[in-house]
Amino acid sequence: MKYTFPENFIWGVATAAQQIEGGITEGGRGLSNWDVFSHIPGKIEGGGVTDVACDSYHRYEEDVALMKKLGVKSYRFSFSWPRIIPDGCGEVNPEGIAYYRKLIDCLKKNGIVPNATMFHWDLPYALQVKGGFGNRNMTGWFKRYAEVLLDNFGNDIEYWVTFNEPIATYVGNAKGFFAPGLSDDAYARQCCHNLLVCHGEAVKLFRSRNFKNAKIGIVVDVWKHYPADPENAEDVKTAEFSNEIEGYGMFLNPLFLGGYSDILTRYMEENRLTPEIQPGDFDTIRQKLDFYGMNFYNVLIDDTRKTGGKNADGSEGGNFQNRPESHTELLERVLSETVEKYKIDIPVMISENGLPQHNDPDREKVLDDQERIDYVKSVLKPLHSAISHGIDVRGYYLWSLMDNFEWSAGFEARFGLYYTDYETLERIPKKSAGWYASVIADNGFEE
Ligand code: NOJ
Repeated sequence: MKYTFPENFIWGVATAAQQIEGGITEGGRGLSNWDVFSHIPGKIEGGGVTDVACDSYHRYEEDVALMKKLGVKSYRFSFSWPRIIPDGCGEVNPEGIAYYRKLIDCLKKNGIVPNATMFHWDLPYALQVKGGFGNRNMTGWFKRYAEVLLDNFGNDIEYWVTFNEPIATYVGNAKGFFAPGLSDDAYARQCCHNLLVCHGEAVKLFRSRNFKNAKIGIVVDVWKHYPADPENAEDVKTAEFSNEIEGYGMFLNPLFLGGYSDILTRYMEENRLTPEIQPGDFDTIRQKLDFYGMNFYNVLIDDTRKTGGKNADGSEGGNFQNRPESHTELLERVLSETVEKYKIDIPVMISENGLPQHNDPDREKVLDDQERIDYVKSVLKPLHSAISHGIDVRGYYLWSLMDNFEWSAGFEARFGLYYTDYETLERIPKKSAGWYASVIADNGFEE
């Protein structure tokens, strides 16, 4: 069977500033929350820090050349707020602007469409000290940052993303294993609320500019949970908790339907977790968007008899790696239920999808990543089916161009099409790089 994707389907790769750039004290950059967090002993697997990471701050041309080789049509990257405004709310750093100007120009010269995220988790540390997203002043600080980005690059970016996976801000403030490392559920919910207001303000600002070529959206990851036994009340409750109370529902509901869901509202009231909500916030948050980016990695089946009341991954929610079982075949169902439930009538993109490999000391084993090829196929098949059944998915971005800093998993999880040698900073193509290039060239694949 041949899986051919629609004409003009956007095949891309994705990265993020904190994970690839390095150069954290170069070119006038301020420190980020993740710079500081990763330097706290014990926080990151293997003790990884991002001082150098993939050194893309210096090697961006080489990276764009890799993309050109793959034939990607679009590159999803992120701006580093502390590189643009080192303390988050003061002076703009001209060297930071110059860096992204060079990157964007290089992409354009190579015919690669920029898809850029304003915030992919690297908060200026100076703002973290002021309370981070828990501080309501964040809405003003973020708006100014967005304004600086739009003033400088507004029309150069075809796809603007305000926030990537806002759940990370919940995890970092409620679960402790992401920056800033807090374990305060109520504070985390205030952070998420303020973050959503920041999103709305940025979209309003964007609309006021009437850019010719640019569109704006947001990326919310969907790790959907289903009860193993729909008749089992525990399974049902566990899946609902993961979806609505500590998952995508926290964001998709206010973004697309307006306000928090009844389930979440009740839960927050009963547990004294309700954030301070100002009049008009829900209108600000619910802006008309041009596209919705879904990061999709897996689906979870909650069988509480097996896991003793916990989620399928044995955790208590949030954005985790190393899921025990693969249920990617359910992607079409996830897509159709998501667009239906949240009445999403705008184009969708799979803004991230990929597979981590363990950092095996045997490099050859990592380079021979048939498992990644099989996994991506297992996602592209239901994606193809979803599109042929009328779901308007316009693109697919593979995470990631090269192995990089995988947050609390440090450099131990390798997601790249290219292997990063962290000693020499060489990028070496894995088997999947050649395969993905052929998928792009053929606009699909044959099985
Ligand atoms: C989620 C995040 O957006 C990205 O930063 C991360 O590396 C990948 N997915 C893989 O976990």
